[in-house]
Amino acid sequence: MIVWALAVLIAAAFTHGQAGEMPAGDPVRGETIYHKCQGCHSIDRNRVGPKHMGLFGRKAGSLPDFNYSEAMKNSGIVWSEQTLDAFLADPRAMVPGTKMTYAGVKNAQDRADLIAYLKEATKE
Ligand code: HEC
Repeated sequence: MIVWALAVLIAAAFTHGQAGEMPAGDPVRGETIYHKCQGCHSIDRNRVGPKHMGLFGRKAGSLPDFNYSEAMKNSGIVWSEQTLDAFLADPRAMVPGTKMTYAGVKNAQDRADLIAYLKEATKE
C-alpha cells in the first residue's frame, strides 16, 4: 500500500515536470545567478548585451539603441517566463546566429530563480 502510494506520488511528480512547468523561482538566489550575466548585461544600461529593463513583454531584439544580430531581430520571440526559460537553457539553439556567446544556464532551478529575479528587477 505504501509502495503504491509512493509510486503514484512519483508518477505525479514526473508528469508534473513533463508538462513543461517551471519550478518555483527564488528571486534572492536569482540575483546571485544574475552575476553570471553581468559580464555583459546590466539591468538599466546597454553594455556588450542589451539592458534588461522592461524585458517581460518586450519583443526580442527591439531596443532601438542596441545593435542586435539579424538573428535576434528576426526571431519573432516575445520575452516571457517560458521564452526566457528556453532561450537561457541554450541561447544558440533557440536563436541560431545570436551574438550572445554564452553557453546557457543548464540547471532548470537556476533558470527559474534567475527569471524570478528578472521579473522583479526589470519592472519599469
Ligand atoms: C558574453 C556576453 C553575454 C553574457 C555572459 C550574457 N549575455 Fe545575454 N546577450 C548578449 C548579447 C551580445 C546579446 C544580443 C544578442 C543578439 O543580438 O543576437 C544578448 C541578448 C540577451 C537577451 C535578449 C534581450 C533583448 O533585448 O531581446 C536576453 C534576454 C539575455 N541576453 C539574457 C541574458 C541572461 C539572463 C544572461 C545570464 C544568464 C546573459 N544574457 C548572459 C551577451 C551576453
